Amino acid sequence: MIKKYVFGNPIETGATVQKIPESLSKISVMQMEKTEDKVVLFYNMEKEDIVYGLGEQVRGINKRGFSYISYATDDPIHTEGKHSLYGIHNFLIVSGKWTFGIFIDDPGKVIFDVGETSMETLKITAGKDCVIYTIEAESLKGIVKQFRQLVGRSYIPPKWAFGYQQSRWGYENQKDIKDVISGYKDHKIPLEAVYLDIDYMEHYKDFTVDKEKFSDFPKFVNELKEQNIHLVPIIDAGVKIEEGYSVYEEGVENNYFCKEEDGKDFTAAVWPGKVHFPDMLNTKAREWFGGKYELLTKQGIDGFWNDMNEPAIFYSEENLKKVLEEIIAMKDENLDIHSFFHLKDLVGSLSNSSIDYAAFYHNMDGLKICHKDVHNLYGFYMTKAAAEAFEKIEPKKRILLFSRSSYIGMHRYGGIWTGDNHAWWQQLLLSIQQMPSLNMCGILYTGSDIGGFGGDTTKDLLLRWLEFGIFTPLMRNHSAAGTRKQEVYQFGDTKDFRNIIRIRYALIPYLYSEFMKAALEDEMYFRPLAFDYPEDTSAKRVEDQLMVGESIMIAPVYIQNAYGRYIYLPEEMLMVRMKSPEEKQFEVWEKGDHYIEIALNEVVFFIKKNHMLPLAILDDMVNTTADLDESRYEWIGFAEERAEYTLYRDDGISKTYTPQKDWKSYVFSEEDFADKYQILG
Ligand code: GLC
Repeated sequence: MIKKYVFGNPIETGATVQKIPESLSKISVMQMEKTEDKVVLFYNMEKEDIVYGLGEQVRGINKRGFSYISYATDDPIHTEGKHSLYGIHNFLIVSGKWTFGIFIDDPGKVIFDVGETSMETLKITAGKDCVIYTIEAESLKGIVKQFRQLVGRSYIPPKWAFGYQQSRWGYENQKDIKDVISGYKDHKIPLEAVYLDIDYMEHYKDFTVDKEKFSDFPKFVNELKEQNIHLVPIIDAGVKIEEGYSVYEEGVENNYFCKEEDGKDFTAAVWPGKVHFPDMLNTKAREWFGGKYELLTKQGIDGFWNDMNEPAIFYSEENLKKVLEEIIAMKDENLDIHSFFHLKDLVGSLSNSSIDYAAFYHNMDGLKICHKDVHNLYGFYMTKAAAEAFEKIEPKKRILLFSRSSYIGMHRYGGIWTGDNHAWWQQLLLSIQQMPSLNMCGILYTGSDIGGFGGDTTKDLLLRWLEFGIFTPLMRNHSAAGTRKQEVYQFGDTKDFRNIIRIRYALIPYLYSEFMKAALEDEMYFRPLAFDYPEDTSAKRVEDQLMVGESIMIAPVYIQNAYGRYIYLPEEMLMVRMKSPEEKQFEVWEKGDHYIEIALNEVVFFIKKNHMLPLAILDDMVNTTADLDESRYEWIGFAEERAEYTLYRDDGISKTYTPQKDWKSYVFSEEDFADKYQILG
């Protein structure tokens, strides 16, 4: 059951789609205190209680023991002491003696102190104007389902977006892209898309393509399309200030940019230097900005990533002036402990400053509102701008779209990637732990920068990351300029990489089917074990294994130099060990804890009892999803008596999704699995 409580005079954020009548009684699941400028909620947690949720955040699946601040932040160091990342997802579930979900629909700053200040106390501090939803249901899955129905169906990408994708900040021109494609082709490794980072633009101007780097862009895009390879350009939030640049000029002329208090266009700086920010919260400005994507779709582009949309600010004109004056005044000073550190802090304080976020305004269709109060909506509305435009430009076709910043509600328009992580082993674990939390909040099309964005990756880290990444809907290798080259063919012998990426392609029928079922049924694709085994107290404590779809459990290796790991099996399961789509071994393991060896070139996962999954039968020439033969599958399963699987299929590109009545159910008996655990069907 969902209850809705309204405090003060909240703005309509667009997070929800279901109309719920306002409850006039007191919030029943938590205690509440209201002050002049805040709504504060308290809950006394039992020792055993687990808190799930909060989407893209640091730390574990169980969020207890730390404070999380909902304030979208461009911070590339995702260590455990950080309180905010790029996406804001104010939904959590307390699971224990009393189990409930709570969603705080407040686009300003919200603080979740999940037992940090006092280990037993969950304290949520929201602004005075907010809407709070509480959800109670029989099970964790039931709470999630109700929440997801409240916020609406998740974004569905084209099927090709489940292929393997390569990105890097620093592919400068057509030749660089061609080299990447040849790198993969030469080693017979499938590749579905190559990303265009900011380098493709003319001086970092949105919706432009540098002609010196790409002499005939539409021709190039279409040449690649013929090979079923997609080019996916980045779009940044800030619009360069430059006379003669039409996007800038139209924005100024029509008052489409965010303004300062006195009505002047707000100026900040990002990649191109000084920019204005389109007022994404204004319907007209949003339509205008969204319409610009057509400049690229017209040239054959069918996928985009929206970036720097917290929005990230390097500095603002005002702030820079003040800081420089202070620094110049220090010129002849003898800087001591205080003044020297103050100097260092001054420079650091220039970026993403709360002073700047308080200095500009939106015109929300007539309502003037300070950015700081709706900060967390900016990335959401930038992505909505694009998605709404696609409805007009290509109403029948799915376009790939994902964003860095987000808020609940944006999950209906696009996916997210988890931003600028590092080539550190602990960030692989973080990525594993973020996935179910994101899925709870409706973000299904997601994944991390495989191999790590910042810092130099290593061959073993990249292999292990790919072994997890083959299960994430977005499977993209991306790295920062200046780091060691990270395409898989840069590490000597490519055999293991090729095998792992081919395993991904073999798994696509299952992964796509599970993704689509989760999207269409408002369910989770990645789940913590406790969601499937609620009575199992050991399963509840597992922080590094996940259920993926209806049939399997994964337990990725995320520690360097480990050639295996302890794995908890919540029931007897069939272990599948794969070195390639063709080389498989099967072994049944009892319920309980086991140490299982997993070599650096192996993918291991577990099939639940009486479950199975289809694998695509790959020939040597599978380069993209378009080459997958789905006329027959190889089934692998664990049938005690019979194994069953419901397969979802569609054309992967149109928006007419197959209704549930047409999903195909496959049932095989134990005898069918004559060749032990495999059937060619
Ligand atoms: C941001 C993005 C990153 C991108 C870079 C350059 O840091 O998060 O993915 O490569 O900007 O555009």
